[in-house]
Amino acid sequence: MNLPYDENYLREMELWPFFESQQRRGDVPIVSVLAEPGKRAQTPATAPRTHVVEAPYQQGTPAAAASRREPGVRPPPTQVHTPPASMPADPARLARIAQLDWEGLKADVASCTACVLCKQRKQAVLGVGAIDAPWLFLGEGPGAEEDEVGEPFVGPAGKLLDAMLAATGLQRGREVYIVNTVKCRPPGNRNPSAEEVEACAPYLERQIDLIKPKLIVALGKIAATRVTGAESSMAALRGQLYTYRSIPVVATYHPAYYLRTPPDKVKGWEDLMLARKTMAGL
Ligand code: URA
Ligand code: SF4
Repeated sequence: MNLPYDENYLREMELWPFFESQQRRGDVPIVSVLAEPGKRAQTPATAPRTHVVEAPYQQGTPAAAASRREPGVRPPPTQVHTPPASMPADPARLARIAQLDWEGLKADVASCTACVLCKQRKQAVLGVGAIDAPWLFLGEGPGAEEDEVGEPFVGPAGKLLDAMLAATGLQRGREVYIVNTVKCRPPGNRNPSAEEVEACAPYLERQIDLIKPKLIVALGKIAATRVTGAESSMAALRGQLYTYRSIPVVATYHPAYYLRTPPDKVKGWEDLMLARKTMAGL
């Protein structure tokens, strides 16, 4: 039997018992809010505690956006941030990367020494997925397993990401491309520094220009800061729409955070619904 996606998500994310008990108390109506494949998302008649919004994207006229919106549902504000352009430390490098095709990108990151992360990596991890994917999921940087295997999100956080994707009706390798903000593993899984993020940004920018995704989901603070330009906490960053290189961006916590803080996985549910609804309205 096909479960509606929302229930599917709750089960995938091991949130079902929590929601079921809330539902029994009448606190949270569980409704089908995400579309079956090929159908448009429905907004529940009774709004759940989580705010589900029809997100307007800033393309098109305000009137067109308003007509897509459901009555009484306030859209989140859209913020346009322009992150600092990559430092012109080496203009020749930037110009070269901006021209690379996929083969060229792969070779270039494999031999890149533009930041100190090159020193301890086993291999650079470019990304995985469909190169014409409408969805781009942006993580932080490879961990030990990713460094070993050469693919993003193959460790425990990746398993949770796969569950989040599956529950949203998406699948790694199909309509999703998964990429990291830095392509080489920060030693000991420390956060990449601002300089490292900046040094690696031309690769991310080229990937985005080649893929032309319709929507970016930024996973965690490092990714969200890079594509929103905002230094705020994740709590402040999520629930809003941003644009990066003219592409709408939704930010959510990193899957590793959800592993550490399971009840907050419900926030991932809200954020993915905002992403779904934004995508459906494009
Ligand atoms: N965390 C990330 O941000 N990326 C990975 O590829 C793995 C874990
Ligand atoms: Fe180059 Fe990026 Fe790896 Fe740094 S993290 S060495 S910039 S590929």
